[in-house]
Amino acid sequence: MQLQTATVIAGSETPAGDGQFGAMRCVITLPDGSRRAAVIKRGPVGEIAAEAFGALVLAAWGLPVPEPFLIDEATGPAFATADVGYPNLKKRLGLDSLPDGPAKAAALQIAVQLAVQLPSTPLAVVADEAINNRDRNLGNILWDGQSEAWIDHALALGEHPEGYPDRNKLAEMACMAGDHDRVSRAAVGQALAVSASPLVPANDAMPTALQGRNHAAYVAARLNNLAARVLDRFPKPADLLTNANQPA
Ligand SMILES: Nc1ncnc2c1ncn2[C@@H]1O[C@H](COP(=O)(O)OP(=O)(O)OP(=O)(O)O)[C@@H](O)[C@H]1O
Ligand SMILES: [Mg+2]
Repeated sequence: MQLQTATVIAGSETPAGDGQFGAMRCVITLPDGSRRAAVIKRGPVGEIAAEAFGALVLAAWGLPVPEPFLIDEATGPAFATADVGYPNLKKRLGLDSLPDGPAKAAALQIAVQLAVQLPSTPLAVVADEAINNRDRNLGNILWDGQSEAWIDHALALGEHPEGYPDRNKLAEMACMAGDHDRVSRAAVGQALAVSASPLVPANDAMPTALQGRNHAAYVAARLNNLAARVLDRFPKPADLLTNANQPA
């Protein structure tokens, strides 16, 4: 996957997400003059670099991610992805509009079950572990009833705020859904197959302004013991046989 540089058509932007960090739906023009519906994110250059590197590497590993674009703006580089045209799992289940209570808890459980059963979920657990993505919440998984797309890698690759909990949320969802045995086995298999070969090309595909963050070396180091790292995110058989207050 390449990283084409596109421009936003002025006046085409409308809010896309929760508005917290300002993802905007827009129309972009590609270098060949064609137009695409997209979602643009602006932010610190480190987060833009993490988004771009993350999208390129995850795509190379075979994870469905929307096509990424770089937007060269006067204020600095921004990141955009092609709008896949379907919502995230939080929106699809209407989680934000439900009041706290049993209906919301039930909808959350369904959303989690759906997230865990996606065909590419074991690979996404592994990819998140490899790029240190601690923020795979239900708003960052898009699903149209058939296909899924994984988005929002702004806080991966060490870009998370200090003290941000070290979690693999998708592995936690597999545990919540009671499906950790199947997902952990599949994920360990995927971890052994994930290759370091896309790392340097992904770095080279980014503009110079986004390079120099050692992302390739950062991920390569995590690949060395990736299967063990992934396994560590799931309950061990011993954990399931002992009380928390008993020595194993
Ligand atoms: N490529 C895309 N196709 C369709 N929808 C998208 C795409 N990228 C982002 N979105 C939508 O925009 C929302 C926000 O995007 P993202 O998660 O990347 O940013 P964020 O930093 O969490 O932003 P916000 O705080 O505005 O939600 C997503 O939850 C999703 O609904
Ligand atoms: Mg998000």
